[in-house]
Amino acid sequence: MPWRVASAADVVASSGCGGLRERLQTLSPDPTPAVSELLFINASQVVTCAGPGRARRGVEMADAQVRRDVAVAVIGETIAAVAPPDELERAHPAAQRIDCGGGVLTPGLVDSHTHAVFGRPRFEEQELRAAGVAYMEIARGGGGIHSSVRDVRARDVGELAALAELRLRRLASYGTTTVEVKSGYGLTVDDELKLLRAISLVSERVPMRVVPTWLGAHEIPVDFRERGDGGASYVKLLVHEMLPAVAAGRLARFADVFCEPGVFTTAQAREILLASKRAGLGLKLHADELEPSGGAELAAEVAAASADHLAAISEAGVNALASSQTVATLLPGTMLFLGRPRQAPARALIAAGSAVALASDFNPGTSPTVNFPLILTLGVSQLHMSVAETIIAATVNGAAALGMADRVGQIAPGFSADLALFDCEDIRELPYWYGDRRCRGTWVRGETCHPSSVPIS
Ligand code: NIG
Ligand code: FE
Repeated sequence: MPWRVASAADVVASSGCGGLRERLQTLSPDPTPAVSELLFINASQVVTCAGPGRARRGVEMADAQVRRDVAVAVIGETIAAVAPPDELERAHPAAQRIDCGGGVLTPGLVDSHTHAVFGRPRFEEQELRAAGVAYMEIARGGGGIHSSVRDVRARDVGELAALAELRLRRLASYGTTTVEVKSGYGLTVDDELKLLRAISLVSERVPMRVVPTWLGAHEIPVDFRERGDGGASYVKLLVHEMLPAVAAGRLARFADVFCEPGVFTTAQAREILLASKRAGLGLKLHADELEPSGGAELAAEVAAASADHLAAISEAGVNALASSQTVATLLPGTMLFLGRPRQAPARALIAAGSAVALASDFNPGTSPTVNFPLILTLGVSQLHMSVAETIIAATVNGAAALGMADRVGQIAPGFSADLALFDCEDIRELPYWYGDRRCRGTWVRGETCHPSSVPIS
């Protein structure tokens, strides 16, 4: 147990109670452990992304603040300073040194869109799509999301949490330190609560920062589809039964809807989102993923934190997002894996002044990858973004899509000490060595998250 000399506050607190108490306090074990200090040294580059603690829009995304010859000091859970190494060595003589071995240090990656709690993988659908069966056609036949729903309903919360834990640890091993996780494979009150509880359980077991999202509106369940009312009775269940239960249990920070022709209409999505907002949840939207349906415009209208996918966004949608605070979250891995030729118009969104984030969409149907740096590769090669833009999209703007850009996503004083160390000399190598796992270690709130093999002295 750490010991410390009594602070001025202790002395003040004990004054009037005699010197003995004061002396005892001086020697008694400290109930709060000593604050740890870390010094990250010998990074070839520190990509700080430092700047305003909010989403970066348009041209602001072009500068990721690549620094050479600096070290990073962490006190407790927080970044204390980014400065020349000798200066920080002098200021923090007792700090534990973490030798970055010439690697690149970045803010921990923020994956703001995943469906990481699911049961079995759906690899059989990949060959079906290769043979020409479309994603929505598979769903109409009872596969796709419906297949994951049947599987999840048969599993208990412990099993789902155990599976999710393995998957989140794999995400962390590629550099992700903050991860949003959606429910959405339950589609009954009990099964959606079960998924959200699994997310809550796993968030206590992994060092990552986990943000839970309620996606009860992921599909219209088969039994409700059979009613032939276009999903009206399921929307009623969502708004009047499921949402109140989720809100009462404080199980989600955001609500999301799969707004897509054949799933939820924009009118239904609006109703669910507005009810969710009244219940105190932040909003997200699967918008214009496969066909344009005014999803981006709706996300802007309801002031959603993010509109996600956008591969089929209209020009009006681009303009609506550009004149809103809603982050455009692009998921290029999904379009790649589905074999669809059209990607979201990242350049048009950035040129119009939007804030663009990148995320993995990790899920068993359309994007079974845990490799966030691979998404950066796709950001460059498929979305025509610069490396700096992809880094801002995966840090500051991912954090903005989760409402935490004021404290997460930057290596800057006062920000959470969430860091990722990559085995590269230049940040441009990160998307270049595509598919490779270059991450040596991650830290969340100053604690090791993913093992680092670098020497620590
Ligand atoms: O973001 N499009 C809706 N949801 C997921 C896919 C989920 C699944 O197929 O299991 C997505 O692509
Ligand atoms: Fe998704």
